Amino acid sequence: MCGIVGATSERRISEILIEGLKRLEYRGYDSAGLAVLNDNGDIELVRRVGKVQALKDAVGEQPLSGTTGIAHTRWATHGGVTEANAHPHISGNCIAVVHNGIIENHDKLRQQLQQLGYTFNSDTDTEVICHWIHHERKKHDDFFAAVQATIKHLEGAYGTLVMDCRNPGRLVVARSGSPLVIGLGIGENFVASDQLALLPVTRRFIVLEEGDMADITRTEVKVYDRDGNPVEREVHEFDGHYDAGGKGEYRHYMLKEIHEQPSAVRHALEERLTDHGLADDVFGKGSLELLKRVKHVQIVACGTSYHAGLVARYWLEALAGVSCNVEIASEFRYRTSHVHHDSLLVTISQSGETADTLAALRLSKQLGYLGSLTICNVPTSSMVRESDLAYLTRAGAEIGVASTKAFTTQLVGLLMLTLAIGQFRGMSHEQQSAVVQSLKVLPNKLEEALLLSEAIEALAPEFADKYHSLFLGRGTQYPIAMEGALKLKEISYIHAEAYAAGELKHGPLALIDAEMPVIVVAPNDELLEKLKSNVEEVRARGGIMYVFADKHAHFKSDDSMRVINVTHCDELIAPIVYTVPLQLLSYFVAIIKGTDVDQPRNLAKSVTVE
Ligand code: AGP
Repeated sequence: MCGIVGATSERRISEILIEGLKRLEYRGYDSAGLAVLNDNGDIELVRRVGKVQALKDAVGEQPLSGTTGIAHTRWATHGGVTEANAHPHISGNCIAVVHNGIIENHDKLRQQLQQLGYTFNSDTDTEVICHWIHHERKKHDDFFAAVQATIKHLEGAYGTLVMDCRNPGRLVVARSGSPLVIGLGIGENFVASDQLALLPVTRRFIVLEEGDMADITRTEVKVYDRDGNPVEREVHEFDGHYDAGGKGEYRHYMLKEIHEQPSAVRHALEERLTDHGLADDVFGKGSLELLKRVKHVQIVACGTSYHAGLVARYWLEALAGVSCNVEIASEFRYRTSHVHHDSLLVTISQSGETADTLAALRLSKQLGYLGSLTICNVPTSSMVRESDLAYLTRAGAEIGVASTKAFTTQLVGLLMLTLAIGQFRGMSHEQQSAVVQSLKVLPNKLEEALLLSEAIEALAPEFADKYHSLFLGRGTQYPIAMEGALKLKEISYIHAEAYAAGELKHGPLALIDAEMPVIVVAPNDELLEKLKSNVEEVRARGGIMYVFADKHAHFKSDDSMRVINVTHCDELIAPIVYTVPLQLLSYFVAIIKGTDVDQPRNLAKSVTVE
């Protein structure tokens, strides 16, 4: 989704802005732009459709001398992908604005501004913000006061950064629904929608709270809460582990992140396990008091994180002895749901900023849940700050839009949640030890799964000319089949569907022919024989299968079936281990198809608007 970077300094800042935008590229965007206030007090604006590199090339041709500026990567919502719709937007050659989010009442504001004589140069909702500030500027001498007055008229979500030609060296930001951080430098300060953008220039950050505004100069940062009161916000030192670094030896971030899974899981386990159970406070100080009372778990998430929740339901119900519902956040937030007695609301999110999941968390506070827990990868995110309990997945920064290590580390966290709740609900010591032992061998098992890379790469050409595919699994592997299908469609653009294998005969069997590869996940678990019957159903109808199977499952390759033997592992961690070959499959198919693996078309890493 859209990205924001801003800077006020003594040095030229256009390179800092562009480097910041480059570091936000992973979030997904379709155009980029920047505005810098030059030494003559004029705003210089450069915008380009396409990659940040195009913007950089354009700036390279006309170097910018200003020391205060704002920049943006846009992911189109209102108005097509054009240079005119790219941010920053300018009013009266003096007010420049970049904005993440959606202004829901933009139509009404636009009409009012048109009546006041303002002309619009774009189809965006954002342009109303800069004209309205310009309008308020006529009434308010103070730039900050003009932005404050404007914000009162806006409905919807915004993270907004504003620059005024009459206030060189000053930036004003406002946060409502879209995350913003202030990066603190020495004699210079910065703003971004994600701290990763600013790592080359600072490691000290203030995370703005909902409703905050800030008045920023080179030497001072003043923060005000939603009521306009001055407030002190904590300064966070950046957690070095969260730095993505570069791609290293890998061709894409996604591949790097797939290969980082054993070390990410090792890090996730550090100091969290004892020999027979969980260390104290894995879910936060005093968390056991709350977890002790849990009789039901309501999981809410989107996309890959939702799939993690679906796996957890099997664990929580079978091992921890609590009932569990899992729901997509965009559905949950807009329906009237029944809140079970002593129910814990669990959100799962890599970013901790996904708009629907965050809205569901906020909604849950009025619904009578026992409390909220987030399983999240970003320590400073809104979900971590607004939940009663937080479990940090410690996956490190995930740059590829297709989520990989975030998912497997979420599953680790959810197994720990199963332990944490199960210990109070009759889970035996043997069962708890078994979970602990499985988790401890998991990093090695993931390393073994990665050894399949070459074999899977060799299979990939067989998928490249296909338009459709079907993923099958049973039990905890059903959500893994869903995740495999999501990965394939996301980065290779091949239509992929996942079915619980037992559902085949209730409809999808009609689709089977040699043109639709069927991918089967087949660990050696108690459902293996049932799954084998489903495999025969596909074979009898001329289907071509790719079976990721435990070597003890005794599948044999033949004309209709390619068997890829996955390392033998305990049933409990099999969903985590079997995820890896499916990630690799989608990666290598995407490579053959030549897609933009790390930034697939139309997608954004962090979906901060509805
Ligand atoms: C996964 O590959 C996707 N990019 C997407 O489904 C993602 O998992 C979803 O948008 C939720 O994001 P979150 O985990 O940051 O909340």
